[in-house]
Amino acid sequence: MKIAILGAGNLGISIANGLLTNNMITKLYLTKRKTSTLEKWKNIPEIIISSNNIEAVECSDIIILCVQPSQFNKISNEITEYLNNRHTIISTITGLSLNVLEKAFGKEKHIVRSMPNTAISVGQSTTCLCSNDTGKSRLELAESIFNNLGKSFIINEKNMQAATVLCASGIAFWMRLIRSTAQGGVQLGFESKEALKMSIATASGAISLLVNNKSHPEEEIDKVTTPNGCTIKGLIEMEHQGLSSALISGLVSSFEKINKISIK
Ligand SMILES: NC(=O)c1ccc[n+]([C@@H]2O[C@H](COP(=O)([O-])OP(=O)(O)OC[C@H]3O[C@@H](n4cnc5c(N)ncnc54)[C@H](OP(=O)(O)O)[C@@H]3O)[C@@H](O)[C@H]2O)c1
Repeated sequence: MKIAILGAGNLGISIANGLLTNNMITKLYLTKRKTSTLEKWKNIPEIIISSNNIEAVECSDIIILCVQPSQFNKISNEITEYLNNRHTIISTITGLSLNVLEKAFGKEKHIVRSMPNTAISVGQSTTCLCSNDTGKSRLELAESIFNNLGKSFIINEKNMQAATVLCASGIAFWMRLIRSTAQGGVQLGFESKEALKMSIATASGAISLLVNNKSHPEEEIDKVTTPNGCTIKGLIEMEHQGLSSALISGLVSSFEKINKISIK
């Protein structure tokens, strides 16, 4: 696949890492204005480092837009006239609607809006996808790219902001949960590094149980809560302190904020 990542910053590089690890590219353009930060990519034969977005577009079939929302107008003005029906345009730009993308590139272009998360760099991104009408025929292609970089979900665009909170910000929320349980482990007497490793391994085991058993979290909780035992005592205290309600309120606050900053 000939792919161009326009805006090779944090997310762009994460995607590039994933594409490279999974041998998914025949040629990959990585563009940014200051290319000096991309030195370590320069010796990889399939990769071309450039600040020339137009050349990247002309030489690629799939264009992945990874610039910040404020940088979108400049880059879209630059590349629009070089886009044609061959191209699949995949935007990762948070809050940028299909309507805005269609106004910039034209309704007749194949446009996919995506919301990956940073776990894409290790091939474990949860990526939500939707498309304009023309782009529906390219959704499968986008899905196949992101399924090789984790798990993708095709959703309605109206749920894209919610998906951003649950899946992209979700990485930060899960990190905080893991950090908190590790800190609890330190309080209980473990060394910090040991506690963190144990916390990560436990989280990973919990997730594997849900995935392998196709079970609901409460089913797995039932299996470890002995009547009048220590686990139920701990869970009740966590809920008393507002664990579930704090998590849900956090998601809702994040959602309210993203709705204020989105570009319709
Ligand atoms: N990070 C995440 O977890 C995440 C998750 C989902 C979606 N997103 C979305 O992904 C986008 C990128 O986020 P990020 O965290 O990767 O931002 P970032 O690190 O700031 O990357 C943006 C990159 O775009 C480059 N750039 C700016 N103008 C350009 C232009 N005209 N042509 C080519 N490159 C240009 C910048 O480099 P130069 O200044 O050198 O040009 C920069 O490296 C955002 O829209 C964000 O909402 C991010």
